[in-house]
Amino acid sequence: MNENLVPKDLRKVYTNEEILSIEQKHMIPAVTHYYQNPILIVGGDGAVVNDNNGKQYIDLFSGICTKITGHHHPKFIATLKWQIDQLIYTSSLYSTVPYAVLSQKLAQIAPFGLTQTFIVNSGSEANESALFMARKYKKNPYIVACTHAYHGRTQLTREISSAGWRTIPESHPPGIRFTPYGYCYRCSFGKIYPDCDTECARYLREVIRTQTNNAIAAFIVEPIQGVGGIIQPPPEFFQITYEIVKEYDGIYIADEVQTGFGRTGDHWWGIQNAKVNPDIITIAKGFGSGIPIAGFLTRPEYAAEYTTTDSFTTFGGNPLSCAAAVAVIEIIQEEQYLKKATTLGEKFKTLLQPLIAKHDIVGEIRGQGMMLGIELVRDRDSKEPATQEMLKVMEICRQNGLLIGKGGIDGNVIRIQPPLELTHEQTEKACEILDLAFTEVENAMG
Ligand SMILES: Cc1ncc(COP(=O)(O)O)c(C=O)c1O
Repeated sequence: MNENLVPKDLRKVYTNEEILSIEQKHMIPAVTHYYQNPILIVGGDGAVVNDNNGKQYIDLFSGICTKITGHHHPKFIATLKWQIDQLIYTSSLYSTVPYAVLSQKLAQIAPFGLTQTFIVNSGSEANESALFMARKYKKNPYIVACTHAYHGRTQLTREISSAGWRTIPESHPPGIRFTPYGYCYRCSFGKIYPDCDTECARYLREVIRTQTNNAIAAFIVEPIQGVGGIIQPPPEFFQITYEIVKEYDGIYIADEVQTGFGRTGDHWWGIQNAKVNPDIITIAKGFGSGIPIAGFLTRPEYAAEYTTTDSFTTFGGNPLSCAAAVAVIEIIQEEQYLKKATTLGEKFKTLLQPLIAKHDIVGEIRGQGMMLGIELVRDRDSKEPATQEMLKVMEICRQNGLLIGKGGIDGNVIRIQPPLELTHEQTEKACEILDLAFTEVENAMG
């Protein structure tokens, strides 16, 4: 490759200060970075990224739960390079091999019966499209979403997200209803599982009966909430809500943007852990392992009424993104990521468990596979969220070469959603650094 053809400004070696100064001049505040002094990431390999000073970090957040095949996976890179040489872009007005092959592969790994694919560009767009399709099919405006959910930032998806994203004062658009999620650590009903009889799930019937015309277009739910703070309800939550949704003739949508592609272990889809077969799953993030691509999978009967007049997207299904996603699916299969997510997740949890006894700041450790959360509290009895302490934990981890994610409505939950390339040694090292960070923060708390 002739590197001299690459724009000089891209090849130049910058300092943090130079990049920050460009950003401050030209980027809007909606673009913010983690850490007091943001990291300038310039490269990576496997589950490790490195900054412009050559410092390495174990990456427990994979961007945002996205770089599932790790940084610089040889098969992923080879596929991209090969596809770039063939054809980077044409629209879906024309047939292309990658889109067709991808839709076939998706049908093979989809939950039973979800044989039809629509490819778009982001998780928000995938949810927006799926909800539109559900409303059109059912000729019903009502959508029920869960408290603490995050489904995106387009107008509709931000309105069905309750994690504090409604920043301008306006009423909800018509038809949006909410029901409690199964957040056992902070139960909406003050009850304790399993004596609670999963009241959170049963409450959906109350919402439908009292706040809709006794029918809904769709119920949308994350199998484990990611942005909301790695919240995992008991499996009955999904089984009971599924029965209620069907009782009222609704479409059951599993938002698998974070839980998809094997992240929760054993299965391709998080909802399969609860043995529920949804009508639609929406996908993004790990789907392209960093190359923008998203979409939904659904049943032929719902898809049949969703035509070009309902939706079209210029970049959706482009050859480069689709080729990347085909490579991701094969890598997951060839490297047995589904199994790996389970075993590594169990190891992680085993190593983290002693931290509960050792550190009062650890309120709860939860999640499954390579989607784990640690909720930090200032006090175990009051469960006051340790929001400021969380920021300090992040800084200490960073100093010690560990990147973690942040979640929860109060920003007090550590999100562990690494590439599935993470090794056992890196898992052990990560737990040591977390232990050290909790010790330092607790010492400072006095
Ligand atoms: C569960 C879930 N759904 C949808 C989205 C929106 O995806 P995107 O940011 O690609 O629009 C996100 C993003 O974090 C998500 O976590």
